[in-house]
Amino acid sequence: ELSPIDRAKFVAAKRAADMVEDGMRVGLGTGSTAAWLVRCLGEMVQNDGLRIKGVPTSSRTAELAREVGIEIQTLDEAKWLDLTIDGADEFDRDLNLIKGGGGALLQEKIVATASDRMVVIADKAKEVESLGAFPLPVEVIPFGWQTTQALLEETLVAMEVMGRKTTLRMNGDAALVTDEGNHILDLHLNRIGNVRQMALVLNQIPGVVENGLFIDICDTVVVGYGDGKVEVRD
Ligand code: A5P
Repeated sequence: ELSPIDRAKFVAAKRAADMVEDGMRVGLGTGSTAAWLVRCLGEMVQNDGLRIKGVPTSSRTAELAREVGIEIQTLDEAKWLDLTIDGADEFDRDLNLIKGGGGALLQEKIVATASDRMVVIADKAKEVESLGAFPLPVEVIPFGWQTTQALLEETLVAMEVMGRKTTLRMNGDAALVTDEGNHILDLHLNRIGNVRQMALVLNQIPGVVENGLFIDICDTVVVGYGDGKVEVRD
């Protein structure tokens, strides 16, 4: 018996899995919601003879996809994807997103951008009026990361955003290291006024590799509810 939150994630994942057609090249997202999707697709491959090629967005997802019997390709082997299905930490009415709570935002953004269509699967609690209550993840190169952090904070001051605190993402006692060998700074902004400007400005800072704002990338959000209801927004 699933808890309401897991039920919401599962029903959203299930609905999105039904959008996958035979022969598709599919980007496979990262996180607990995306894990439901990977398991659903694994069952469709094993039981219904669905043939797909999956491009995982993290080492974790690659491992799970292999376990459930999905054929895996690198993005460069696939070259272009028909569809990417991924979770999100927040989404707004324009279907802009914050992603990276699971630390995989860099590969996630590259894969989603290389897809004809991106579908996000999320429970209703992820829907927000404006993005930013969830700390915005920014992936930075380890070299000089403290200097990058200082520059980032100065930039936030110059932009006059409300929250300016930044914290280094930890993994136990050590700085978290992403699949690409980088660190993550979480930006506690409370509310991001101009998401487009924020996404552009952050990526101008030397040492910043990518940020977790997904603007104009997502085409559809499948929203799951604890009672099993599903809504499709696009
Ligand atoms: C991973 O880096 C994130 O972008 C995830 O997609 C996001 O954190 C959602 O995770 P859950 O589905 O576990 O909430």
